[in-house]
Amino acid sequence: MAQESSTTRARTRMRTLTTKPVPVPVTVIGLGPMGRALAAAFLAAGHPTTVWNRTRGKADELLAKGATWADGPLDALGASDVTVLCLIDGNAVDAVLDRALAASDGRPLPATTLVNLTSEGPGRTRELATRAEEFEVPYLDGSIMTPAAAIGTEATRILYSGPADLFDLHRATLAALGGSAIHLGVDPGRAATFDVALLNLFWTSITGLMHSFALAARHQVPATELAPHARQMAQLVADLTPGLAARIDAGQFSGEGTSSLTSVSASLEHIVHALEEADVPSAFTLAAKGVVDTVLSAGLGTDSPARLAEFLSHERVEF
Ligand SMILES: NC(=O)c1ccc[n+]([C@@H]2O[C@H](COP(=O)([O-])OP(=O)(O)OC[C@H]3O[C@@H](n4cnc5c(N)ncnc54)[C@H](OP(=O)(O)O)[C@@H]3O)[C@@H](O)[C@H]2O)c1
Repeated sequence: MAQESSTTRARTRMRTLTTKPVPVPVTVIGLGPMGRALAAAFLAAGHPTTVWNRTRGKADELLAKGATWADGPLDALGASDVTVLCLIDGNAVDAVLDRALAASDGRPLPATTLVNLTSEGPGRTRELATRAEEFEVPYLDGSIMTPAAAIGTEATRILYSGPADLFDLHRATLAALGGSAIHLGVDPGRAATFDVALLNLFWTSITGLMHSFALAARHQVPATELAPHARQMAQLVADLTPGLAARIDAGQFSGEGTSSLTSVSASLEHIVHALEEADVPSAFTLAAKGVVDTVLSAGLGTDSPARLAEFLSHERVEF
């Protein structure tokens, strides 16, 4: 093989250093707070950005910043190789696709890649992916794990799923949204699975935290006084997370050296009693106790809390 001269190598290196990828055109459909933040980030990164929203007024600021208005969903899809959808739910995505189809007069939809950043459950997301496949439109799904204000900054975290080659193809464009873009696998419902599992953790934790502030308040303990202790408790949950996950995946449920489920149930019992005494609704805690007690009645009281995840993943629990 002929040796590359040092001049050729240097020229190649110079090209690598000086050739910046030209930002490709992008369309954003859906201009709620999140859609507007996404479109603004694409504009800020230099992408020619086309926008469409059911209510036109929400595009005003973006148009002033240089975005282009599309006359309808079909024009919006036809304007770019990448179309980001950011709507309230899957039904709104269907409604937008229906409008594009109605306008297309039986012709195929434009060959844009749909990047659907609308939050939906895994099942509904897979249905949308199947629908896109029927129209022969490439489809990636994404779940945005950060608030609109974080878009375009290092704090952005978006989980994607769908064909890996499609993600690789558009990775540079999606980088305009900032932070981390994480591809989780080819099943289009995978990002949505992570999304609902993590939001379940988040919202039950926030509700539990508010519940605890309410209980403390009934005993004249201000939220700010409880807060540092609550923070330590939340940190304990964070610290226990990897170990519990490892036990679940390894099928190791022995309660030796940890709290047994019998002990967890007794603890929840006295918390329920304290809530009732303080006239704070106890249904939330009773629901947690109901789950634990169902597993206890299956004879698993000496197991660790890791058993709850395993049990709930295959048993139907009613209480
Ligand atoms: N906001 C955040 O911080 C945040 C964070 C993470 C994830 N997300 C996700 O991002 C998505 C968008 O959220 P968002 O906060 O921007 O606002 P949103 O209130 O969830 O969605 C508003 C958008 O949906 C459109 N829409 C609703 N029904 C429609 C229909 N039938 N046909 C066509 N368009 C319809 C609205 O159009 P009109 O303007 O015409 O009503 C608007 O563009 C959601 O799935 C949300 O869960 C948001």
